[in-house]
Amino acid sequence: MPDACILGIESSCDETGAAVVRSGQQILSNVVASQIATHQPYGGVVPELASREHLRAIVPVVRQALAEAGQTYESVDALAVTQGPGLAGALLVGISFAKALAFALEKPLIAVNHLEGHIHAVLLEQRQSGDAALQFPVLALVVSGGHTHLYLARREGDCWTYENIGRTRDDAAGEAFDKVAKLLGLGYPGGPVIDRLAPHGDPAAVKFQTSQIKHRDRRDRNLPQAEGARFDFSYSGIKTAVLRYVETENLKPSIESRRQALAGTDKPALEDYLKVCDRQTLGLVASFQRSMVEDLVAKTLAAAQEYDVQTLFVSGGVAANRELRSTFEREAGMQGLPVFFPSRSLSTDNAAMIAAAAFPKFLRKEFVAMDFSAEAGMVLK
Ligand code: KG4
Ligand code: ZN
Repeated sequence: MPDACILGIESSCDETGAAVVRSGQQILSNVVASQIATHQPYGGVVPELASREHLRAIVPVVRQALAEAGQTYESVDALAVTQGPGLAGALLVGISFAKALAFALEKPLIAVNHLEGHIHAVLLEQRQSGDAALQFPVLALVVSGGHTHLYLARREGDCWTYENIGRTRDDAAGEAFDKVAKLLGLGYPGGPVIDRLAPHGDPAAVKFQTSQIKHRDRRDRNLPQAEGARFDFSYSGIKTAVLRYVETENLKPSIESRRQALAGTDKPALEDYLKVCDRQTLGLVASFQRSMVEDLVAKTLAAAQEYDVQTLFVSGGVAANRELRSTFEREAGMQGLPVFFPSRSLSTDNAAMIAAAAFPKFLRKEFVAMDFSAEAGMVLK
């Protein structure tokens, strides 16, 4: 197999990433500039600010990735960039920069689907650890701030194909974590905060009903029967249930004082959060996370059984969640199903996963022409 160093660039949402990965398996560098501080005051990603921050960060981030890898613009073999899905204006920054580099350096350019990147984050580390024998079919749960998808992943030689057998009908799982955290005055992004607070509360304190999409309803009526069962998710209901609980339990005044206390604390630590969260709030947080985790794990394992898959991948920002990881490991283990996650830093957005997903395309010479553009709603096939 030819050896190739690919410079990957990622700018689909609120992280500017650049990385150099050798032959889809060895990370030489992986630099991520987070925009959390920019978006924090707004409680969510502001698209125009994201584009401006990418523009500010892209040159230094790429330079740093090359320097840390001991590479130069001239020495890399190809460039790879996220084409979509994501925020159009944010994607265009990475794409314009990658195109300019490819044109000036006369190097091939590879367009990568961000969701395929999340799946290849798992493969990258699996190859890196030398543990190459994968049993197919693989079922991949990609669970992040913008996506909750189940894909059957198949490989023929260097060609990967994906079949979507489940998606969220409304909010993505990470979006539910972020919205609930915002509602409870815990700041943005909510996933990591809820992850750290949940072990301090009683997960049985509040009873939530997660998505009520029943098994027989999972067959999309618009699809022919032959297309197989679907395993869709729905997380807007649990967010509304948390809001209703906040209203009926009259938690708004304490939420407002928490919000103000945390706004006055620079980079709050776990102790700062615990100081401003009473037992009831911690119980609510723990119960919310437990319901989310149970729903994600139950649907994924039901799909794994239905499609008789041999291996499970869980990736995307929410895959960094500790309770999700331990529950998947326990439950999949009971079914004898091997489950793989990226390390926590490769779970959230990064460019190493983009450079890794580009490698099979590099081998197939699947390069893009200079007139390609961003695809905000790009689907993975
Ligand atoms: O993959 P990612 O970095 O960006 C997207 O492609 O969306 O995922 C970000 C999402 C956010 O919603 C964030 O709250 C969530 O992942 N997240 C977590 C954790 N870390 C990040 N959710 C739960 N637990 C975590 N530890
Ligand atoms: Zn992502």
